Amino acid sequence: MDKLSHASIVDGVLLSRAQFRVFKHNDPESLEANLKRVNRQRRGGVLIVMEGTYGMTGDLANLPDICALKEKYDARIFLDDAHGWGVMGENGRGTAEFFGVQDKVDIYFGTFAKAFASIGGFSASRKDVIDWIRYNARTQVFAKSLPLVFVKSLMKTFELVKAGINRRERMWEISRLLKEGLLKAGFYIGSWSSPICPVFIPLKERDIHEIGSRVVSYLRQKGVFVTGIMYPVIPKGLFMFRMIPTATHTEEDVELTVRAFESMRDDLKLDLTISGEDLNNIKKIYGSVQHKVTVT
Ligand SMILES: Cc1ncc(COP(=O)(O)O)c(C=O)c1O
Repeated sequence: MDKLSHASIVDGVLLSRAQFRVFKHNDPESLEANLKRVNRQRRGGVLIVMEGTYGMTGDLANLPDICALKEKYDARIFLDDAHGWGVMGENGRGTAEFFGVQDKVDIYFGTFAKAFASIGGFSASRKDVIDWIRYNARTQVFAKSLPLVFVKSLMKTFELVKAGINRRERMWEISRLLKEGLLKAGFYIGSWSSPICPVFIPLKERDIHEIGSRVVSYLRQKGVFVTGIMYPVIPKGLFMFRMIPTATHTEEDVELTVRAFESMRDDLKLDLTISGEDLNNIKKIYGSVQHKVTVT
């Protein structure tokens, strides 16, 4: 399991009662070391579990390298693409489509709670795998199925997503404008690989709680709804905002957001310089290997 996996993945791994190992975030070397060790004594299958587009940090799983390792070590891949499905790839089929490796993913998981603006989720795999999950997963067997009103609305959303190339292009454009605006204002933007926009504020000597509560309420008062993330989710010394631009945001929304960040920078006297220690902390979050992808 990738170290940066979402809490629901961690819970799923623990509930499976399978033996598990954690590899460094997005680090094929660390994954390979683990696969080698596991293969020395394995008695059953090996599943590599990770996200496709990391919801918190916006970086993408290094799928080309990880898929090559899966084949080399005879493993399988479970991809939680909650943040990639409907968003990444030409047809919105997700992060694996983006990298052209859809056929290498053994279990593809998506939620309807992000791009589909609803509730519920799905796993897609070979029929025998899905049948096994259907009849063996306690959370599936003993849970109510999705109410029909959601199913019906999701069928409509599905059509919109399938024909949603213009919306996806618009979303990338809004994301690019937001990132460029914040970058110009002196903020450090974590990853450019997906539309997700993580913004890092170095704390310097300031108190994390003082900064944390002040920046979030400052922006909210200016009409910008942001989520703030701090230690223990990310290393001490940094505060992070995570923003998810959408196709329905406008140029005016971006303008308002960038202006709010600029006045926050000035009014709260934030020192935005990212020094050596801050860079080390950011590297700790993203892992040692970053897949270079340009925003188009
Ligand atoms: C990577 C990932 N997987 C799964 C989930 C859970 O999705 P849901 O809200 O549909 O339970 C989330 C939600 O934040 C997520 O980010």
